[in-house]
Amino acid sequence: MTVSIEPSVPLQPERTALRRRYLMCRPDHFAVTYAINPWMDPAAGADTARAVAQWEALRAAYLELGHTVELIDPLPGLPDMVFAANGALVVGGRVYGASFTHPERAAEGPAYSAWLAAAGFADVLAPSHTNEGEGDFLTMDRLILAGTGFRTDLAAHQEAQEHLGRPVVTLRLVDPRFYHLDTALFPLDGENVAYYPGAFSSGSRAVLERLFPDALLASEADAAVLGLNAVSDGRNVVVNAEASGLIAALEERGYRPVPVDLSELRKAGGGPKCCTLELRA
Ligand code: ARG
Repeated sequence: MTVSIEPSVPLQPERTALRRRYLMCRPDHFAVTYAINPWMDPAAGADTARAVAQWEALRAAYLELGHTVELIDPLPGLPDMVFAANGALVVGGRVYGASFTHPERAAEGPAYSAWLAAAGFADVLAPSHTNEGEGDFLTMDRLILAGTGFRTDLAAHQEAQEHLGRPVVTLRLVDPRFYHLDTALFPLDGENVAYYPGAFSSGSRAVLERLFPDALLASEADAAVLGLNAVSDGRNVVVNAEASGLIAALEERGYRPVPVDLSELRKAGGGPKCCTLELRA
């Protein structure tokens, strides 16, 4: 008789979570009063209380995963300040400050830089070029991926590289729905990414294929619910619940999706990542 033995080797690699330190801003003053991206409709508005409740659930999810969440005080008159990712780029304890494209958000840059300086980050560079922080700069182990085309200037990519000492790779965004890099791509861990190819120019798609041959390619349907605006700690991936195809693909690869509902914040064009600035020591 034959005895079959179950393979003891897992089919998927064991994914490792790394503890993160995040900065968030409660959406007490959240509203849709202007339109600076195609998601925003001031006539339709948004429900602030609902946004706060959804944001609280996002924060609770991070705490549950063992991450640290710091808070910056929301300022009246800055309805988009909840999108902390845009406030700066923090790598190796050094800070590249943000300088916003649209005057409606201009005051957020100095507010985030001041918070970071007060929190003890010493090298806070006031930028010479327009850039929207982690909205357009995504940090990997060996390099930083940087978006341009809608918000962040190409010159800011160079400025960030020089200040942070990590190679910056430029990627060109071409679809106005995906106006920030973090709406079209997210790092799964320090070495691999998930992205929606249609958001990028053909040259940038070729760059992504060369850098990340094993990337997870997401569908337009998943991108259209801001599924790529996700936050991974290397194992757990906090992701918009509507991105069902992406969630299944993550599970297949051995990640653990943590679905959240941020539908109210999506009315301003934001998801989990937009609400989250990573403070990297
Ligand atoms: N309404 C904001 C804007 O258009 C949304 C920012 C979303 N943030 C992000 N990191 N993608 O600027």
